[in-house]
Amino acid sequence: MTVRRRIAVYPGSFDPIHHGHLDLIARCRPIFDEVIVAVLANEEKRPLFSVAERVAMIEEQVGGLGFCRVESFSGLLVDFLDRVEASTIVRGLRAISDFEYEFQMALMNRHLNARVETVFMMPREDYSYLSSRLVKEVFRLGGNVEGLVPPAVIAAMGARLTAAGGQGE
Ligand code: PNS
Repeated sequence: MTVRRRIAVYPGSFDPIHHGHLDLIARCRPIFDEVIVAVLANEEKRPLFSVAERVAMIEEQVGGLGFCRVESFSGLLVDFLDRVEASTIVRGLRAISDFEYEFQMALMNRHLNARVETVFMMPREDYSYLSSRLVKEVFRLGGNVEGLVPPAVIAAMGARLTAAGGQGE
Protein backbone atom coordinates (compact mmCIF):
# COMPACT_ATOMS: atom_id res chain seq x y z
CA MET A 1 0.00 0.00 0.00
CA THR A 2 1.37 3.43 -0.93
CA VAL A 3 0.99 6.10 1.73
CA ARG A 4 0.26 9.53 0.25
CA ARG A 5 2.53 12.23 1.52
CA ARG A 6 0.67 15.12 3.12
CA ILE A 7 1.88 18.15 1.19
CA ALA A 8 0.71 21.66 2.13
CA VAL A 9 1.18 24.78 0.08
CA TYR A 10 1.57 28.01 2.04
CA PRO A 11 1.06 30.79 -0.51
CA GLY A 12 1.57 34.51 -0.16
CA SER A 13 3.40 37.61 -1.23
CA PHE A 14 5.95 37.41 1.59
CA ASP A 15 7.23 40.92 0.87
CA PRO A 16 9.06 40.44 3.16
CA ILE A 17 8.77 37.27 5.28
CA HIS A 18 8.15 38.05 8.97
CA HIS A 19 8.00 36.09 12.21
CA GLY A 20 4.26 35.51 11.90
CA HIS A 21 4.89 33.62 8.65
CA LEU A 22 7.79 31.67 10.18
CA ASP A 23 5.68 30.77 13.23
CA LEU A 24 2.98 29.38 10.93
CA ILE A 25 5.49 27.30 8.98
CA ALA A 26 6.80 25.81 12.24
CA ARG A 27 3.22 24.94 13.27
CA CYS A 28 2.80 22.93 10.06
CA ARG A 29 5.54 20.50 11.02
CA PRO A 30 3.46 18.05 13.11
CA ILE A 31 0.60 18.10 10.61
CA PHE A 32 2.21 17.82 7.16
CA ASP A 33 5.07 15.81 5.68
CA GLU A 34 6.12 18.72 3.51
CA VAL A 35 5.32 22.42 3.30
CA ILE A 36 5.91 24.33 0.09
CA VAL A 37 6.12 28.06 0.65
CA ALA A 38 4.77 29.49 -2.61
CA VAL A 39 5.76 33.07 -3.39
CA LEU A 40 3.38 34.84 -5.75
CA ALA A 41 5.17 36.40 -8.70
CA ASN A 42 3.03 39.49 -8.96
CA GLU A 43 5.07 42.47 -10.00
CA GLU A 44 1.89 44.57 -10.38
CA LYS A 45 1.88 45.11 -6.62
CA ARG A 46 5.23 46.95 -6.90
CA PRO A 47 6.89 44.83 -4.21
CA LEU A 48 9.89 46.01 -2.22
CA PHE A 49 11.74 42.80 -3.09
CA SER A 50 11.79 40.86 -6.36
CA VAL A 51 10.42 37.33 -6.39
CA ALA A 52 13.95 35.89 -6.55
CA GLU A 53 14.99 38.01 -3.55
CA ARG A 54 11.94 36.93 -1.55
CA VAL A 55 12.52 33.27 -2.37
CA ALA A 56 16.19 33.58 -1.34
CA MET A 57 15.28 35.37 1.92
CA ILE A 58 12.74 32.68 2.84
CA GLU A 59 15.15 29.89 1.91
CA GLU A 60 17.71 31.42 4.24
CA GLN A 61 15.20 31.19 7.10
CA VAL A 62 13.69 27.74 6.42
CA GLY A 63 16.64 26.02 4.71
CA GLY A 64 17.55 24.00 7.78
CA LEU A 65 14.02 22.80 8.54
CA GLY A 66 14.07 19.80 6.19
CA PHE A 67 10.31 19.56 5.69
CA CYS A 68 10.00 22.90 3.93
CA ARG A 69 10.93 24.18 0.47
CA VAL A 70 10.32 27.46 -1.32
CA GLU A 71 9.04 28.02 -4.85
CA SER A 72 7.57 30.90 -6.81
CA PHE A 73 4.42 30.70 -8.87
CA SER A 74 2.34 32.80 -11.20
CA GLY A 75 -1.17 32.21 -12.47
CA LEU A 76 -3.79 30.38 -10.47
CA LEU A 77 -2.85 28.94 -7.11
CA VAL A 78 -4.94 25.81 -7.77
CA ASP A 79 -2.88 25.13 -10.90
CA PHE A 80 0.31 25.39 -8.84
CA LEU A 81 -1.16 22.88 -6.37
CA ASP A 82 -1.77 20.47 -9.25
CA ARG A 83 1.81 20.90 -10.47
CA VAL A 84 3.25 19.99 -7.06
CA GLU A 85 0.58 17.31 -6.43
CA ALA A 86 -0.79 19.00 -3.32
CA SER A 87 -4.41 19.45 -2.30
CA THR A 88 -4.07 21.54 0.86
CA ILE A 89 -3.59 25.28 1.14
CA VAL A 90 -2.44 26.70 4.47
CA ARG A 91 -3.29 30.28 5.34
CA GLY A 92 -2.83 32.26 8.54
CA LEU A 93 -5.75 33.93 10.30
CA ARG A 94 -4.61 36.75 12.53
CA ALA A 95 -7.92 38.38 13.35
CA ILE A 96 -11.58 38.45 12.37
CA SER A 97 -10.70 41.16 9.84
CA ASP A 98 -8.75 38.57 7.83
CA PHE A 99 -11.74 36.27 7.67
CA GLU A 100 -13.84 37.72 4.86
CA TYR A 101 -11.00 37.86 2.32
CA GLU A 102 -9.76 34.42 3.32
CA PHE A 103 -13.28 32.96 3.19
CA GLN A 104 -13.76 34.27 -0.35
CA MET A 105 -10.40 32.93 -1.50
CA ALA A 106 -10.95 29.52 0.08
CA LEU A 107 -14.35 29.11 -1.56
CA MET A 108 -13.14 30.42 -4.93
CA ASN A 109 -10.25 27.96 -4.85
CA ARG A 110 -12.69 25.17 -3.97
CA HIS A 111 -14.92 26.27 -6.86
CA LEU A 112 -11.92 26.10 -9.20
CA ASN A 113 -10.85 22.71 -7.90
CA ALA A 114 -13.14 20.73 -5.59
CA ARG A 115 -10.19 18.60 -4.47
CA VAL A 116 -8.51 21.58 -2.80
CA GLU A 117 -9.08 22.31 0.90
CA THR A 118 -7.85 25.37 2.78
CA VAL A 119 -6.64 24.96 6.34
CA PHE A 120 -6.46 28.05 8.55
CA MET A 121 -3.98 28.35 11.37
CA MET A 122 -3.48 31.05 13.99
CA PRO A 123 0.01 32.43 14.50
CA ARG A 124 1.36 33.07 17.98
CA GLU A 125 -0.69 35.83 19.66
CA ASP A 126 2.36 38.12 19.82
CA TYR A 127 2.33 38.19 16.02
CA SER A 128 -1.40 38.68 15.50
CA TYR A 129 -0.94 42.35 14.53
CA LEU A 130 1.98 41.70 12.23
CA SER A 131 1.84 42.25 8.47
CA SER A 132 4.50 42.75 5.80
CA ARG A 133 2.87 46.06 4.87
CA LEU A 134 3.17 47.43 8.42
CA VAL A 135 6.72 46.14 8.82
CA LYS A 136 7.78 48.04 5.69
CA GLU A 137 5.96 51.20 6.74
CA VAL A 138 7.38 51.23 10.27
CA PHE A 139 10.89 50.48 9.03
CA ARG A 140 10.72 53.18 6.34
CA LEU A 141 9.67 55.72 8.98
CA GLY A 142 12.56 54.77 11.25
CA GLY A 143 10.67 52.54 13.71
CA ASN A 144 12.13 49.48 15.38
CA VAL A 145 11.13 46.18 13.75
CA GLU A 146 13.55 43.98 15.69
CA GLY A 147 11.83 40.79 16.83
CA LEU A 148 9.21 41.13 14.11
CA VAL A 149 11.36 40.06 11.15
CA PRO A 150 14.66 38.13 11.05
CA PRO A 151 17.85 40.24 11.24
CA ALA A 152 18.71 39.34 7.61
CA VAL A 153 15.41 40.85 6.49
CA ILE A 154 16.10 44.05 8.43
CA ALA A 155 19.50 44.26 6.73
CA ALA A 156 17.94 43.69 3.30
CA MET A 157 15.29 46.37 3.90
CA GLY A 158 18.00 48.77 5.03
CA ALA A 159 20.06 48.12 1.91
CA ARG A 160 17.00 48.52 -0.33
CA LEU A 161 15.97 51.81 1.24
CA THR A 162 19.54 53.15 1.12
CA ALA A 163 19.75 52.22 -2.59
CA ALA A 164 16.43 54.00 -3.15
CA GLY A 165 17.71 57.14 -1.44
CA GLY A 166 15.66 56.50 1.70
CA GLN A 167 12.37 56.59 -0.20
CA GLY A 168 11.74 52.88 -0.70
CA GLU A 169 8.74 51.91 -2.82
O1 PNS B 1 0.01 37.23 1.14
P1 PNS B 1 -1.14 37.56 0.25
O2 PNS B 1 -0.76 38.67 -0.69
O3 PNS B 1 -2.41 37.82 1.02
O4 PNS B 1 -1.40 36.25 -0.66
C1 PNS B 1 -2.44 36.22 -1.60
C2 PNS B 1 -2.34 34.98 -2.49
C3 PNS B 1 -0.98 34.85 -3.11
C4 PNS B 1 -2.61 33.74 -1.65
C5 PNS B 1 -3.45 35.10 -3.59
O5 PNS B 1 -3.37 36.37 -4.17
C6 PNS B 1 -3.32 34.06 -4.69
O6 PNS B 1 -3.53 32.90 -4.46
N1 PNS B 1 -2.98 34.52 -5.91
C7 PNS B 1 -2.80 33.66 -7.05
C8 PNS B 1 -3.87 33.91 -8.14
C9 PNS B 1 -5.12 33.12 -7.82
O7 PNS B 1 -5.14 31.92 -7.75
N2 PNS B 1 -6.22 33.87 -7.60
C10 PNS B 1 -7.48 33.31 -7.20
C11 PNS B 1 -7.42 32.95 -5.73
S1 PNS B 1 -8.97 32.97 -5.03
